[in-house]
Amino acid sequence: MNLTLHVWRQKNASSAGKMVKYDAKDINPEMSFLEMLDVVNEGLIVRGEEPIAFEHDCREGICGSCGFVISGVAHGPQPGTTVCQLHMRHFKDGDVLYLEPWRAKAFPVLKDLVVDRSAFDRIIAAGGYVSVSTGSAPDGNAVPVPKVNADQSMDSAACIACGACVASCPNASASLFTGAKISHLGLLPQGQPERMRRAESMVAQAPPPPPMPHWPVNDNPNPPSVIWDASGLRINASNSSLQQILNEVSTNTGTKVVGSVPDQRVFGSYGPGNAGDVLLQLLQGSGYNVLLAGDLGHGAPSQIVLTPRRGGSSNASNPQPQQQQMQPQDQDDEVVDQQEPPEQPEETVPAIPPPNQPNQNQPGFGPNGPMRTPQEIMEEMQQRQLQQQQQMQQQMQQQQQQGNPTAPQQQENPE
Ligand code: SF4
Ligand code: FES
Repeated sequence: MNLTLHVWRQKNASSAGKMVKYDAKDINPEMSFLEMLDVVNEGLIVRGEEPIAFEHDCREGICGSCGFVISGVAHGPQPGTTVCQLHMRHFKDGDVLYLEPWRAKAFPVLKDLVVDRSAFDRIIAAGGYVSVSTGSAPDGNAVPVPKVNADQSMDSAACIACGACVASCPNASASLFTGAKISHLGLLPQGQPERMRRAESMVAQAPPPPPMPHWPVNDNPNPPSVIWDASGLRINASNSSLQQILNEVSTNTGTKVVGSVPDQRVFGSYGPGNAGDVLLQLLQGSGYNVLLAGDLGHGAPSQIVLTPRRGGSSNASNPQPQQQQMQPQDQDDEVVDQQEPPEQPEETVPAIPPPNQPNQNQPGFGPNGPMRTPQEIMEEMQQRQLQQQQQMQQQMQQQQQQGNPTAPQQQENPE
């Protein structure tokens, strides 16, 4: 049979390569692929040309050294067959074949079809062995191995470290190879003592991650200055941890911080002033939902409730958060300040009727009401609470007028 070969020729690791066309004539179909290349090389040597370099050792499909790519397929078109075990009878007379080395960054080309696979050696040297005391070899049957474990271990041991998986993977990953070598010994009783260390060491042969960029957030946070005295609350921070600031505020004022949110770095000076105002200023643009509840005196809230804001963008660029204050229903009620950013989060919740079954015609509470954010629901509830208070006050005034008609009339008609 006659074939046309396009072979990658590259003089050494530092030179550029190219495809070169060769004719392979009078090839016996019973030859192996490597024997076919031997015939082509003999012709090149006779003509005084450099023979095609390819790697081989056992030529029995055991050593894994002979692999290269044949027409885009690692080891060629015959499944489960190394190049040395691939025979020419699987090709047709007149076929045109393209021969290339493994293409992977971890396997640099040394010459023609030969690549440097020492990256695999590094992984094996990191843990692909069982440590034994020196001395005579132990009896092979001294340690009983369950049949199923022996079979699975043998499957993994079938990896011949050829590198085809790395060359075929779009990410050039060595995970198949490394996994086989870890499992091979990890499934056997003899491999148990070093099992953990072996896996970690072999996987750790991956290249180290690049160093972190030198940004302030990658430095250790600086301790903040949090002062709580007669002038109020004062905070100074320069690349300080927000969590640490809130912890110190909590320690100094007694305010309890509720909720867990990702930490942030803070730069700036806040206060001195009313603790609630200073805290709102500090947390403005943090990207959290903020609720200040209760009053410990001098403006210090009894609680700061923080929740992550989902869906919406951080409000860091908006300098003017809206602040609302809910009027107390009576002397025992909490004073609630809510910092709400003008830009509402995208997260929406279905309109859920509140427990006291409000008028279904009120916007947002009916089954067909619009979807609203938690902040919008909170605002509406606050608004309704105010309306209820006003109605109660009006009713009380009317009752007083009925019981004592003189005084209110004098107030309403002073002249
Ligand atoms: S796992 Fe990879 S290196 Fe091992 S035999 Fe298979 S293709 Fe070759
Ligand atoms: S030469 Fe050993 S596997 Fe092909």
